[in-house]
Amino acid sequence: MRIEKTKQSMNAILEEKRTEGTIGFVPTMGALHEGHLSLVQRSVKENNYTVVSIFVNPTQFNNSNDLETYPRTLEADIALLEAAGCDMVFAPEVKEMYPEPDQRSFDFGDLETVMEGEMRPGHFNGVGQVVSKLFDYVRPHRAYFGMKDFQQVAIIQKLVALLELSVEIVSCDIIREDDGLAKSSRNTLLTPEHRLEAPNIYKALLEAVKFSRELTVKETIQKTIDKINESSLLEVEYFSIVNNRTLQPIKKWEEAENAVGCIAVQAGAVRLIDNIVF
Ligand code: PAF
Repeated sequence: MRIEKTKQSMNAILEEKRTEGTIGFVPTMGALHEGHLSLVQRSVKENNYTVVSIFVNPTQFNNSNDLETYPRTLEADIALLEAAGCDMVFAPEVKEMYPEPDQRSFDFGDLETVMEGEMRPGHFNGVGQVVSKLFDYVRPHRAYFGMKDFQQVAIIQKLVALLELSVEIVSCDIIREDDGLAKSSRNTLLTPEHRLEAPNIYKALLEAVKFSRELTVKETIQKTIDKINESSLLEVEYFSIVNNRTLQPIKKWEEAENAVGCIAVQAGAVRLIDNIVF
């Protein structure tokens, strides 16, 4: 497995690999877990060459403490990627990705005015900046993203349409711990007490799907929020039931063929997100 730090050195190899077959790409911010590894394994299966980027992108953090405390485990990540069959790791420094400040501003329309976009202003613009640069450097045939970041996947699809890129976006199922908690790099930052309570988020989402057969959208939302907030260690920031394509909140179940319930919960100092299809 190669480890590259600059776009020049990476490009020299990818030029050749591109003539030999497809390139699969998994962008990450490191602190890898089984969720990331499932994306890597799928890419390895579906492509001739797999590139994984590890870069904690400062422009997508709207909270400096979150950026500082974001877990960084490069050596362990490299060992996991090697075992997963990854061919190349791209692990650039900030100045390699941003030799100049990136002034670009993307218009993702209504996709970015709700949920994560509303709570974390500028977050998706930063994601657009870094992912568009990475797509430009790697020029992959396919790129793999986890559905835990449901809104991010919609934003990336919009980015690809805006920039008229030919990369295929492959969205992959959420990988969960045995107790149901969605795998996330931030889980390692939970205190033992918060870690014990955190599975209640997915439990409540599963119950919400059951309630939805008898309750209105509004009632389902309220009941789910109340259920999670029963734990003094968890506090729901939002729970929205949205149309899976437009990401706009629905009022009646009939408004969306596939409604998705998206949730953000504060668990002490750690913010967790999850979602479920109704
Ligand atoms: O999902 C992530 O880890 C990040 O948002 C991404 C896509 C790697 C961009 O920094």
